[in-house]
Amino acid sequence: MSRVLIRIVNWAHEFLADKIKEGQLAVDLTVGKGYDTLMLHRLVGETGQVVAFDIQSAALEGARRHLLEHGAVVRMWQAGAGKLPAAAGVDLIQAGHESLADYLSQAPQGIVANLGYLPGGDPQIITRPDSTLKALRQACHLLAPGGRLAVVIYTGHPGGAEEGRLVDEFFAALPAADFQVLQLKVSNRSEAPFLLVAEKRT
Ligand SMILES: C[S@@+](CC[C@H](N)C(=O)[O-])C[C@H]1O[C@@H](n2cnc3c(N)ncnc32)[C@H](O)[C@@H]1O
Repeated sequence: MSRVLIRIVNWAHEFLADKIKEGQLAVDLTVGKGYDTLMLHRLVGETGQVVAFDIQSAALEGARRHLLEHGAVVRMWQAGAGKLPAAAGVDLIQAGHESLADYLSQAPQGIVANLGYLPGGDPQIITRPDSTLKALRQACHLLAPGGRLAVVIYTGHPGGAEEGRLVDEFFAALPAADFQVLQLKVSNRSEAPFLLVAEKRT
């Protein structure tokens, strides 16, 4: 299938699809409308599990409907639920991704984050560098050997450029002995989102 070259989100999906297999565990750090969550669900299939976070109940409710329409088994959780049982389907958690480690009891094979604000939602509710970096530290620690973390960064909204700079620095500082790191950006459009991918060495 032909792809739009500069559609960065598609490349994030491609990099994850390369590594995530049927029956595995995957994580979405920012559910939003649930498009990335559904992509992960399709990769892990009916026997796999997706654990996904958002702080906005409206986003999670919309994503739940979207996932149900596509045949997923969906469970809803509140912050403080603790370690989730291993079970096929999608777990949507209304909690900040900075507490990711509190909910996972196994190593995920793939983790995605699409930073910024919910399209069509409140543009004041954005991912913030402090919590984003906490989540990314945990994500790198928890990731299964050979697994990938893919982060799409938007710089056009207030605070986005600063978050992008800090996330870029975080990836750049990952030890090369432990992670392969790749950045993908649209060279001739400075406002376009860019992608960072880290693969944990086996
Ligand atoms: C760009 S949207 C995500 C798009 C989404 N992946 C999709 O497929 O539609 C960013 C989301 O991050 C959420 N968010 C902001 N801060 C968060 C946090 N600390 N933990 C989890 N989600 C957060 C927002 O509520 C928003 O829905």
